[in-house]
Amino acid sequence: MSYSVNLLQQIVSKIDGKIALSFSYQAEDTAALHLLLQCGIKSLEVFTLDTGKLFHECEKLHKETEEFFGISIKRYLPKIDDVKNLENTLGAWGMRESLKNRHLCCHVRKVEPLSRALKGKSAWVTGLRASQSITRNALRIVEYDEKFNLFKINPLDSWSEADVFNYIKEYNLPLNSLYSKGFKSIGCEPCTRAVGENEDVRAGRWWWENPEHKECGLHIKEK
Ligand code: ADX
Ligand code: SF4
Repeated sequence: MSYSVNLLQQIVSKIDGKIALSFSYQAEDTAALHLLLQCGIKSLEVFTLDTGKLFHECEKLHKETEEFFGISIKRYLPKIDDVKNLENTLGAWGMRESLKNRHLCCHVRKVEPLSRALKGKSAWVTGLRASQSITRNALRIVEYDEKFNLFKINPLDSWSEADVFNYIKEYNLPLNSLYSKGFKSIGCEPCTRAVGENEDVRAGRWWWENPEHKECGLHIKEK
């Protein structure tokens, strides 16, 4: 792990065009944002995928983050007709009934809006870490995302969970209050729960599924 802004600065200085940072109200994104804002980027968009199923605590952090950094976080919402179809077919909780239903919900509420958010951008900065799960262990600091046709930058690729919280503490950055309620990872409300102290960092995400399925499609590489 390195807190060095220099490497990130070198990487982003080679990017021609607009850079986007995806903000999911997790500590990783706040740390990535803090690093990125020290890189003197001319054209940056910070955005969130507002699925309509986020926790109330995230809304609070939205405002705190905007005020703290003096930025505006753009919301990308799912298409209203797709949400109507989804709710008509699955009901409010059908995403828990099968992997197929869950992927459908994630596609409508996250993946399709992400494709709009990344349109016209040259690079996408995330808060992904390699140690988060078996689905992420091959993560690199810079990758080319063939699905969305842009560079994907993961400045926290080699950070541990402790590195993230030490960084937040060191710079006194705003933090989602769900962490103090036993959450180790934060997603949509129907699909995220608090976990025990010794449980895995992603144990509370889609807890009814196997670890190899625990991705919502944002970070799946196939086209
Ligand atoms: S997920 O695929 O399981 O949902 P995770 O919650 O670990 O992803 O977050 C990994 C990264 O994906 C975050 O650091 C952020 O860059 C992006 N991300 C995830 N969910 C959202 C969201 N709702 N809005 C914006 N970015 C998101
Ligand atoms: Fe739907 Fe759950 Fe995926 Fe959110 S995480 S989009 S509620 S299935």
